[in-house]
Amino acid sequence: MCGITGYIGHREAYPIVINGLKRLEYRGYDSAGIMIYDGKNIQLSKTKGKVSDLESITNASPTKKVGKIGIGHTRWATHGVPNDVNSHPHFSQSGNLVIVHNGIIENYDTLRKELISRGYTFKSDTDTEVLVNLIEEVKKQEGCKLGKAVQLALNNVIGAYAIAVFDKTKPNEVVVARLGSPIAIGVGKNESEFFIASDASPFLEYTKDVVYLEDEELAIIKLGRAIKVRKIKDDSLVDPNIQELKMNLEEIEKGGYEHFMLKEIYEQPKAIIDTYRGRMLPDSGIIKMAGVDDNLNKFLNAERIIIIACGTSWHAGLVGEYLIEDMARIPVEVEYASEFRYRNPIITNKDVVIAISQSGETADTLAAIKLAKSKGAFVFGICNVVGSSIARETHAGAYTHAGPEIGVASTKAFTTQITVLSLISLKLAKSKGTLSDSAFRMYLQKLQLVPNSVEQLLKIDEKVKEIANHYKNATNCLYLGRGFNFPVALEGALKLKEISYIHAEGYPAAEMKHGPIALIDENMPVFVIATNKGHYEKVVSNIQEIKSRAGKIIAVVTEGDVTVKEIADHVIEIPETEEALTPLLTTIPFQLLSYHIAVLLGKNVDQPRNLAKSVTVE
Ligand code: F6R
Repeated sequence: MCGITGYIGHREAYPIVINGLKRLEYRGYDSAGIMIYDGKNIQLSKTKGKVSDLESITNASPTKKVGKIGIGHTRWATHGVPNDVNSHPHFSQSGNLVIVHNGIIENYDTLRKELISRGYTFKSDTDTEVLVNLIEEVKKQEGCKLGKAVQLALNNVIGAYAIAVFDKTKPNEVVVARLGSPIAIGVGKNESEFFIASDASPFLEYTKDVVYLEDEELAIIKLGRAIKVRKIKDDSLVDPNIQELKMNLEEIEKGGYEHFMLKEIYEQPKAIIDTYRGRMLPDSGIIKMAGVDDNLNKFLNAERIIIIACGTSWHAGLVGEYLIEDMARIPVEVEYASEFRYRNPIITNKDVVIAISQSGETADTLAAIKLAKSKGAFVFGICNVVGSSIARETHAGAYTHAGPEIGVASTKAFTTQITVLSLISLKLAKSKGTLSDSAFRMYLQKLQLVPNSVEQLLKIDEKVKEIANHYKNATNCLYLGRGFNFPVALEGALKLKEISYIHAEGYPAAEMKHGPIALIDENMPVFVIATNKGHYEKVVSNIQEIKSRAGKIIAVVTEGDVTVKEIADHVIEIPETEEALTPLLTTIPFQLLSYHIAVLLGKNVDQPRNLAKSVTVE
């Protein structure tokens, strides 16, 4: 949801800011803008479209690229359509203050009216232009410095924000602040330069020292001085915590793949290993997970587990429900975080809540966590981004170690979330005695084989591409699965929708006859998961029902299958494993299929329209 990047130091700011914007484009790509301060004037360039469009504009005016201070923005529109005027940065009325903003100011209309009554006029429809003028007004009224004005103004704001503000009349500093949207500050040697960004990826090659602002914190970044961090509410000073980043540059580059999504699909064997390494010890027959071990009694005594998440993470949560109930026999409910937070749910201190999020920044999931905590529940997080807001907000948790996921369509996050959920289920089952020691050990052995099986599955890429070519012009598709693979059907449909814009629906296979069967004709491709232990005969009957209505069947089956092969139009085989672990395999062909269809249709795979990787607004 919008990317912010900035630089203040001894180097030319433009290349750092523009390259940073390219790395943050996964966060939004409706429009982009940049301001460079050349020592005298602010040079502004902004446009509807992508960072590459912005680059074309700035390339035509090289003088606009010269200067040692810059801030930039790539936008995912909230207030105001994506056009040149609504693009960030925004100026205050005097032209002295410039701002970039990620988030939503909910009371912007009231503030706007108040500012209009004081003589302010507005060029854009954005809440951001209201905020920069509010800061200017406070600065004027109080006669204070920029940092103080930002602090006072933000106390009048309702909503979410990560902002960077620059004042032409005090050009040696940048003020940043956050509430609900992330902001990272990279610290150069001896404070000779600073980098600002929504995540650390834009400045990885310059510094590994980073300060992540906490919610309701503001930082004054001045050259040659230590960062000053204050609480927005009461202006009290906070000690900035400088952390050393472990991430490296290769992890966030495409590494020879045409798209991040493809790279991330292929990274899954390693991502799964990285996720269970050190936690699962098949030879000793144990699972060690500090976050679970330290709170084992809370899990074991829980009256129920509530899983909250959004999108793909919600689908992983659904697999988690099947796993935990089947293995550990603890009742589980899976909720959309966005519904949970607003429906006055019944939560008690006997509940354990598991929040799942790749980015760790999803606004709805974060709000749902806060609600659950306020009602006394113990909240456990499963996140991919280390140090993210959700990782910090939860009582305990487990990281997925998938590495940075840049493609907007989530792939390796899904399989690593399922890996963590499998480990938790197995651990709880062993502790509760609902799974025998031999069954437990057998699962560990099988889970250890999964990365190899994924590797093997990835070799069918060419075959999946052929199938994609066959069905690329479909306008509707159905995805069917049962049991552990019902969530995979939902996930398969979501992947196709989001990157190829083909309408697709996921259904429990047996539910098809209660409605969707009416859709089936010779133009309807139906993707069915028919693994050999997952109610196989029942699914075969569902396949027959589709076939007798002329539907086209593309089936994902277990190696060596005979029956489905005879009926289906296309068959993709997955290596044999335990049914509970099949989602880690059955999802792979669907990821590849969506990828190839989108590429064949000429869609922008890594940046599908209207989407953003990290949804920090509700
Ligand atoms: C789909 C996708 C989204 C996210 C959802 C939650 O491919 O990426 O549906 O899964 O926005 O995001 P996180 O997991 O970051 O909370």
